[in-house]
Amino acid sequence: MSTPQPSAGRSRGDVVDLDLVPRTATAAVEDEVVETSDGQVGPTGRPRRQIPEPPRLHRHGPARVLAMCNQKGGVGKTTSAINLGAALAEYGRRVLLVDFDPQGALSVGLGIQPHQLERTIYNVLMERGTRVEDVVLRTGVDHMDLLPSNIDLSAAEVQLVAEVGREQTLARMLQPVIAQYDYVLVDCQPSLGLLTVNALAAADGVLIPLECEFFSLRGVALLIDTIDKVRERLNPRLEIAGILATMYDPRTLHSREVMARVVEAFGEVVFDTVINRTVRFPETTVAGEPITRWAPRSAGAEAYRQLAREVIAR
Ligand SMILES: Nc1ncnc2c1ncn2[C@@H]1O[C@H](COP(=O)(O)OP(=O)(O)OP(=O)(O)O)[C@@H](O)[C@H]1O
Ligand SMILES: [Mg+2]
Repeated sequence: MSTPQPSAGRSRGDVVDLDLVPRTATAAVEDEVVETSDGQVGPTGRPRRQIPEPPRLHRHGPARVLAMCNQKGGVGKTTSAINLGAALAEYGRRVLLVDFDPQGALSVGLGIQPHQLERTIYNVLMERGTRVEDVVLRTGVDHMDLLPSNIDLSAAEVQLVAEVGREQTLARMLQPVIAQYDYVLVDCQPSLGLLTVNALAAADGVLIPLECEFFSLRGVALLIDTIDKVRERLNPRLEIAGILATMYDPRTLHSREVMARVVEAFGEVVFDTVINRTVRFPETTVAGEPITRWAPRSAGAEAYRQLAREVIAR
């Protein structure tokens, strides 16, 4: 998790309150569902749109593949993969979560001990005889499956370099199961290396979580440049599915200023849904459950349900 950044190197116009972390006990955690009413302006500065419950699906697939991607660490990629996945599953969508980070945080966040697994996504990527079906795990959430990873995956990054079609390995691997799911969410590691390029080559869209914090916009240009290159060279259907502001603290001017800048820079591609900073998310990691199960009536759970409605509607 990020800590307040040193102020060195900032220009005069950038003097803002960098301290987003509540300093006193008076900064209580916002934990109640906040009803959004029509005509109200949301944190993005736009009117809040009410998106109705998505229609029920009578048949499933082929999946829309979304890569959760930002090379900056600790911005909420894994948290968003788990909780958006769980919220989509609540709406009856079939979801496959792909842990594509050797740290295995997505697997841990769903209560799995990655180091105890005999086979992981690494085996599907690197061994011809191993299929997704051999490795996929059911999660505690109905309709949501997990393709787990562990530290073995870090070897794939090196080994894939020598493979023919190395950038499309994940896309080839997922192909046989795309028809079974409505959404495949790929949780990327914080880097723009070969694994992330594989995720982008396999994806229909990129969902970029951005922390509402001073340096969050740094590096986004490089990410967008990488997305453009992958679109030109490997995957013409790749688009930016949306930018998700995370760890927003409505009480700080700083959060509101960062938010305003993000909307100014990216416009409509920014989701209306904004994820507030709350200790409920670190708690869910310990519990090994999505927030929609751990604290189903919390504002955090409701925010990811709203995001799921936006994702389905887009
Ligand atoms: N909205 C939030 N409010 C407070 N804490 C959060 C929030 N979202 C995520 N966190 C916490 O911040 C930390 C980083 O989140 P997460 O692991 O989702 O980020 P990440 O982008 O996947 O990180 P990495 O780049 O290391 O993979 C975790 O401890 C998580 O519980
Ligand atoms: Mg992560």
